[in-house]
Amino acid sequence: MRMGDGMSLENVPLTVELAGKIIGGLGSAFGIGWLARSYFVGTALRDAKAAAALARGLAEDQRSKYQQCDKNSRLMQDELAKLRVRLGDPDIPVDADNTTDTEDDLWGRPYADLPAHVRAMARSKPRVISVGNLKGGVGKTTIAANLAAYFDKTRGKRVLLIDLDYQGSLSATCLQAAKIEGLVSLADELIDGRADGSWVVKVAKQLQPALSKTWIIPAGYSLAQTESKLMLRWYSGRVPQDIRFNLAKVLLSPEVQDTFEVIIIDIGPRLTTAAINALAASTHLIVPTVLDRLSTETVSSFLNRAKALKQDLNPSLSLAGVVGTMTAEEPRLKNTELASMVDIKRALEQWNGESYVFDRWLPRRQAFADAAGRDIAYLKNNNVADLFKELGDEVAQRIGL
Ligand SMILES: Nc1ncnc2c1ncn2[C@@H]1O[C@H](COP(=O)(O)OP(=O)(O)OP(=O)(O)O)[C@@H](O)[C@H]1O
Ligand SMILES: [Mg+2]
Repeated sequence: MRMGDGMSLENVPLTVELAGKIIGGLGSAFGIGWLARSYFVGTALRDAKAAAALARGLAEDQRSKYQQCDKNSRLMQDELAKLRVRLGDPDIPVDADNTTDTEDDLWGRPYADLPAHVRAMARSKPRVISVGNLKGGVGKTTIAANLAAYFDKTRGKRVLLIDLDYQGSLSATCLQAAKIEGLVSLADELIDGRADGSWVVKVAKQLQPALSKTWIIPAGYSLAQTESKLMLRWYSGRVPQDIRFNLAKVLLSPEVQDTFEVIIIDIGPRLTTAAINALAASTHLIVPTVLDRLSTETVSSFLNRAKALKQDLNPSLSLAGVVGTMTAEEPRLKNTELASMVDIKRALEQWNGESYVFDRWLPRRQAFADAAGRDIAYLKNNNVADLFKELGDEVAQRIGL
């Protein structure tokens, strides 16, 4: 049987299992690299011999990362060979070294229709903002939900929220705020190529009465499986369409273009199929970060990868800015936070004139934590609403709204 010519059901578990192994391999390569770096950077900060220890640590980290990539490449090669035999498909690549051995390569294949995509993105009426960072728990979802509230309540814009994190935190928060029961993962159809513009307009959940001009496409755990399956089928070259642009095609459809003015996408802390779709479909990127040394490093590595993907997939993507989150209480940042800001500004130089750190940072406030998963803090707390009015004004100015 040939993949993509209609896979038989008996092979679907194999496909999912294989996708899991490949993703697991990739994940562990980067996860171990990150852990090693965390360990060594942490040591350096505490140690009197900080500089020497840091240099040794980074060298070791590089060595360990290369070893992991090598191991990952062999793992993928083995899995591809097994898949070739099991499916009797001679077209599945023989040599993983000729295909990919890092996540960047995996997603960075040239896109045949890039000029047409660039033209279509230039005509996009709604601003499409992805909120992303590979670091978990830095306030991405909180910012997506509260910015939606800002654009709806303060600016009177029609907003579409898209949850592309299978954890579904944005969906839970917004649906609870609007007292909507039950969570069906609609994001699966949005990225697997089944959805079109009229489907979005029909099925998106309106967040009335909480936010009467805002709709949401929710996500749940099934999205993780959908993403793995899609990635593997695309990777083995057996799907006709380029799955990285499934979301972009829907958002560029006349129905979506004429219905919404701002589209905000919440990305999980991983470069998954859905995250790649988000970056390929967005006009702007907001990167929230905690202002400490480790988080700053992650911002830098995320921006590097986003920049590479921008070149390959979506040259129209602009960096709206980096926003500091969960900082010390006002009126001013701590010295260590100010130092992190300086590091971030340096890392942003690679975005050629687009670099921007929002003046409005978000202090640690109990109101955010109290609202998590069940309400939108903007609607419950005037201080939070004031913070987001300032941040929202800055965002609106950056994205030309
Ligand atoms: N400024 C803040 N002050 C206090 N708590 C905050 C603040 N911002 C976010 N939080 C809380 O921190 C937790 C993590 O925030 P959030 O879910 O927005 O992060 P995330 O980056 O989306 O996480 P993940 O990577 O898991 O998707 C939540 O409980 C949230 O309520
Ligand atoms: Mg989140």
